[in-house]
Amino acid sequence: MATQDDNLFRNIISHSKEYGFIFPSSEIYDGLSAVYDYGQNGAELKNNIKEYWWKFMTMLHDNIVGIDAAIFMHPTTWKASGHVDAFNDPLIDNKDSKKRYRADVLIEEAIAKLEDKVEKEVEKASKKFGDAFNRKQFEDTNPRVLEYRRKIDDANARLKAAMGSSDMAALKQLIIDLEITDPISGTRNWTDVRQFNLMFSTEIGSLAEEANKIYLRPETAQGIFVNFLNVQKTGRMKVPFGIAQIGKAFRNEIVARQFIFRMREFEQMEMQFFVQPGSEMEWYEHWKERRMRWHKVLGLGDNNYRFFDHLNLAHYANAACDIQFNFPIGFKELEGIHSRTDFDLRNHEKYSGKKLQYFDTERNTSYIPYVIETSIGLDRMFLSVLSGSYAEEKLEDGSERVVLRIPPALAPNKVAILPLLRKDGLPEKARKIMDDLKYDLRCFYEEKDAIGKRYRRQDAIGTPYCITVDHQTLEDDTVTIRDRDSMKQERVSIPEVKAKLTEACSINAVLRKI
Ligand code: GAP
Repeated sequence: MATQDDNLFRNIISHSKEYGFIFPSSEIYDGLSAVYDYGQNGAELKNNIKEYWWKFMTMLHDNIVGIDAAIFMHPTTWKASGHVDAFNDPLIDNKDSKKRYRADVLIEEAIAKLEDKVEKEVEKASKKFGDAFNRKQFEDTNPRVLEYRRKIDDANARLKAAMGSSDMAALKQLIIDLEITDPISGTRNWTDVRQFNLMFSTEIGSLAEEANKIYLRPETAQGIFVNFLNVQKTGRMKVPFGIAQIGKAFRNEIVARQFIFRMREFEQMEMQFFVQPGSEMEWYEHWKERRMRWHKVLGLGDNNYRFFDHLNLAHYANAACDIQFNFPIGFKELEGIHSRTDFDLRNHEKYSGKKLQYFDTERNTSYIPYVIETSIGLDRMFLSVLSGSYAEEKLEDGSERVVLRIPPALAPNKVAILPLLRKDGLPEKARKIMDDLKYDLRCFYEEKDAIGKRYRRQDAIGTPYCITVDHQTLEDDTVTIRDRDSMKQERVSIPEVKAKLTEACSINAVLRKI
């Protein structure tokens, strides 16, 4: 049976198609699994998110610069980065349902279910004991909770060891021991666990030989690492400094059925911050805090974000966490913050034979910097904005509306300009107002249908303000501005409109709050 949130997620997906945000890729041929196209409103929202991130990184930090590296890279890049050998997902099939799963995800979900059981015991006891309830004491002594905890710790330790040593048999054994059943068939009829490399490959040049095999980058970060010295030298950058980049990445995701949450072609916004070895933990904390702030000032609700520390660290990291967002599919990874040590630069030095060291003039010594990375999927950020702002509302008059309360700074259109009637010179006056505003604000002009219907359509695409031009406008040069969220209208004189709305929709104004 579908839960309320499943329904919500389905509604968001169909809304985003109906209103020109996201279409299945090549839909006329029945689409391509886990690949999507952004429509007229989606492309604008996406560009605004990019601008918000890019300005934050490269304008608010005078020690961060941006680059735009190619998607294709020399194939040795991926040997050095560890992706050829280690960028694998452990996959397992259920023989009855014929469905394929990521073994580590199945195990993590089973562990999460045990955590839920602990929470339920705590809730029950807290209700029973009221104010006298002491959570720590309860968790330290309750036999059921202790047994769940023992199972959780044991499963986490075994998962970490199995992933760390790529021991597929140990993962399978853990699935058996945790008595994990297939959510579809309900059986435990599993195949062995196999490694599956997530990189897409193709051939460069005209010969399909192994020597010509290249990869579509699975992360943008390596384009930054291989350019580390180019940027440092030409930009005369001093450690600590950062390099930011926005671009496409590709992963042959097997478990990919969550709309734009997990795609095969997606976009990343990554920043590598190069620091002196030994100072990385300080910078790791710094970037955790900065990135969380960047999210929260958008106003989608502080409670929708939380940190989640990684237990199973990627092959390159000595500390890592996610910023999770409360998606309709639950709290899930939105952004990763990783302390990547000197793993990447050291390996590129080894494989390329070129020195990738920084000469620290103050200390008169050379070293390979350590790296703190902040990495966010643009599409996932898009989904967080979309799902965080989507609301189905019942209004006082009994009618209903679907509204996207997108932060005005990110909204695809900032203002809709609506002549009340298609006559009496109102369209001409409205066009004149638009001609003045359109250089500063993305405007949408519409004169068809009753005004109420037009307001609803703008609510549905998240336009924060509607300007209505009526007969009074012709008399006293004022218009009404309708606010999307409160639906209140105020009368404003036309010369004041631009300054008022520009400030209300300004990305810079949001950035100033960080
Ligand atoms: N350079 C580090 C890196 O790529 P990651 O945790 O694999 O780390 C970073 O990915 C971010 O990229 C994730 O937090 C997520 O937002 C996004 N991402 C990763 N895989 C994705 C996919 N298949 N579809 C959409 N976004 C994805």
